[in-house]
Amino acid sequence: MKAGRISRWMLLLTLLLAAFLRQRRYPIPLPARLSFLLENPVTEAFVGPSLLLERLDLAPGMNILDAGCGPGRLTIPVARATGPEGCVTALDVQPAMLEKLRRRIHAEGLTNVRIIRASLGEGALEENAFDREVLAMALGEVRDRGAALRELYRALKPGGILSVTEAFGDPDYHRSATVRREAEAAGFSLVARYGSFPAYTLNFTKP
Ligand SMILES: C[S@@+](CC[C@H](N)C(=O)[O-])C[C@H]1O[C@@H](n2cnc3c(N)ncnc32)[C@H](O)[C@@H]1O
Repeated sequence: MKAGRISRWMLLLTLLLAAFLRQRRYPIPLPARLSFLLENPVTEAFVGPSLLLERLDLAPGMNILDAGCGPGRLTIPVARATGPEGCVTALDVQPAMLEKLRRRIHAEGLTNVRIIRASLGEGALEENAFDREVLAMALGEVRDRGAALRELYRALKPGGILSVTEAFGDPDYHRSATVRREAEAAGFSLVARYGSFPAYTLNFTKP
């Protein structure tokens, strides 16, 4: 009886480990039906919108990219901060996430959000277009991170900021040294770092 229970636990743990390792190797985006997982007291405390907005040094009128925007946890507060004279481009690969975002934009009465359905790295973004680029808990889900970072580099205005946030516990979490190495390979220079464990933000610029 006891041995049977132990082997069931072992099986469960093995399956969880296999799922985790598979996600690390062949990442798939967080399904839109699980997007509620993004907004909870833990993310609020460590990667909440008010904290991440402080790290962006936003000003009204800016042109901002929210890459891998999901259902708009950050898009909405960023759109409020940049004001009607600014613009937020919200990009995500999943139509169902963007549908959730559309409903939120409508409910908030915002008119300064542009939505793009594309995979980061495919080349959907204009060159030298953005003052700020937000990439929160999204880089690890992108299969070709090199292509994604090169596109972000091209799309950023010189002197603009790419702000990458990662949170431990996310199966797609990447260490700050890895993110830094990959961003620098795309041409970015590190200008600031915030937080450490369980979540950090690295800000890069395009010299
Ligand atoms: C964990 S969610 C984070 C959402 C949001 N940035 C936040 O902090 O609440 C990651 C998002 O990245 C999107 N994503 C994954 N791979 C992508 C890709 N290749 N191109 C664009 N978006 C992608 C997913 O669809 C998902 O909405």
